[in-house]
Amino acid sequence: MLDAIDVTKQFGANTALDGVSLSVSPGDIYCLLGANGAGKTTLVNLFLNFIEPTSGNLKIGELDVTLKPLETKRLLAYIPEQVTLYAPLTGLENLAFFSSLAIGEQLARPRLLELLEAAGLPSGAADNRGATYSKGMRQKVGIAIALAKNAKALLLDEPTSGLDPSAANEFSELLVNASRSGVAILTTTHDLFHAKQTGTRIGIMKRGRLVDELKSEDVSHADLEALYLKHMKN
Ligand SMILES: Nc1ncnc2c1ncn2[C@@H]1O[C@H](COP(=O)(O)OP(=O)(O)OP(=O)(O)O)[C@@H](O)[C@H]1O
Ligand SMILES: [Mg+2]
Repeated sequence: MLDAIDVTKQFGANTALDGVSLSVSPGDIYCLLGANGAGKTTLVNLFLNFIEPTSGNLKIGELDVTLKPLETKRLLAYIPEQVTLYAPLTGLENLAFFSSLAIGEQLARPRLLELLEAAGLPSGAADNRGATYSKGMRQKVGIAIALAKNAKALLLDEPTSGLDPSAANEFSELLVNASRSGVAILTTTHDLFHAKQTGTRIGIMKRGRLVDELKSEDVSHADLEALYLKHMKN
């Protein structure tokens, strides 16, 4: 569903990605690990077509993101590290606004409440102003927007950084639920524990290259940490 095929991205003389190929199937949660500057965000931004590859291709379904920017965006939802809401609007009004932009129709209040509930927003919070929302609550509105869009692929860039352990855990459960309905999920993270716990597959990036790929069921938490540290030392 999400395919990077021999993707290279250069920023001037700096090679941010160097021949990266990876593939995320429906139902997979692919966790991308790697040091600061390894190229994780660059890869996510390429799938989103925020930037274009220097060479190689990126596909959503069978569609090339550079050739079919609008069609591929319809299949995608994106949750950045910081979900930004309109502070004066309530959570529900934010969802109404962003979902109408995403799907081109205005959803009725009962449907919006249903989506916020499915995204795990505490009941009663829907009519509070965005300004009062914690980071975890804003992330949940982001999930609700993705659910409204019925996206086939979900891209996330460090979605759990800064969330407390139980909020991160709850967020991970939402990802697992989404993957069960066949969504292909690609997420970057620095959290080895959650990558092992939540991911079905794990990729390790270093200096623009994908240096390892594994199934999370094939490694223990300790093995994953040892493997990651070994790659970073090499
Ligand atoms: N817009 C840009 N212009 C120039 N260089 C960039 C740009 N975006 C990223 N880079 C460079 O590309 C490389 C990869 O950066 P990227 O943000 O993808 O890393 P990352 O793996 O997401 O790191 P982090 O874990 O810190 O988020 C870095 O050397 C960075 O400086
Ligand atoms: Mg990044």
